[in-house]
Amino acid sequence: MNVLFIGDIVGSVGRAAVKKVLPSLQSKYNPHIVIANGENAAAGRGITSAIVKELLDAGVHGITMGNHTWDNKDIFEWIDDQPKLVRPANFPPGSPGQGAALIKANGKELAIVNLQGRTFLPPIDCPFRKADELLEQLRNETNHILVDFHAEATSEKIAMGWHLDGRASLVVGTHTHVQTNDDTILSGGTAYVTDVGMVGSKEGVLGMERGAVMHKFMTQLPARFVVDEGAWHFHAVLAEIDDSTGRAKRLQKIRLTEEDWLML
Ligand code: FE2
Repeated sequence: MNVLFIGDIVGSVGRAAVKKVLPSLQSKYNPHIVIANGENAAAGRGITSAIVKELLDAGVHGITMGNHTWDNKDIFEWIDDQPKLVRPANFPPGSPGQGAALIKANGKELAIVNLQGRTFLPPIDCPFRKADELLEQLRNETNHILVDFHAEATSEKIAMGWHLDGRASLVVGTHTHVQTNDDTILSGGTAYVTDVGMVGSKEGVLGMERGAVMHKFMTQLPARFVVDEGAWHFHAVLAEIDDSTGRAKRLQKIRLTEEDWLML
């Protein structure tokens, strides 16, 4: 099974890039299942039901979230009815939505799990213990499991990779929007990368207009960040997973600019 995971999609620039790039990647790599992090898809913060539909119509089969899950308040009206979207599973008990889902597409099945780190992020339940609990349940259904660990600290993400090695097919980091060069297959057969990167403007700061971010750093004054409208870049990873064992056979980074995409 080939799984394509797309890094944090930032605003309309990122969504437009996904719609342009995905058909080319589908014909080049034939991914059976496409998952994307959508927590920044609505103007850089959160997601709406219309954007969920837009991404699913574009060919994404499942969506993961993170610390911006609740930023668009309309999510409370529909999240419990959206089976293809997962928010961090270690949010406190009673939070709306689900932390894991079984995604089926093109004759294949993949369980997706979303977890959020606790280092430099709000204090929530332990992602490691929550991962243990969920994987024990999910492995009764499938041995094809993707975990999106939405976290800030590289050490916390690497620790999670080792924690789940041999139990998840693929552990991908999101949230920092910077693709890391440490993609690997761990010794137990789990494909791992500390951060997949992002899809959105490459001329801003993590997809947001750079002037306001620079001003905030220099003055320490509050600032309103808006999505940058500059030329985009597209970051993703493609994993090949053994159909019988669920172990990863190959992990490949994908890193494209608009110019690269035109040459595909
Ligand atoms: Fe985030």
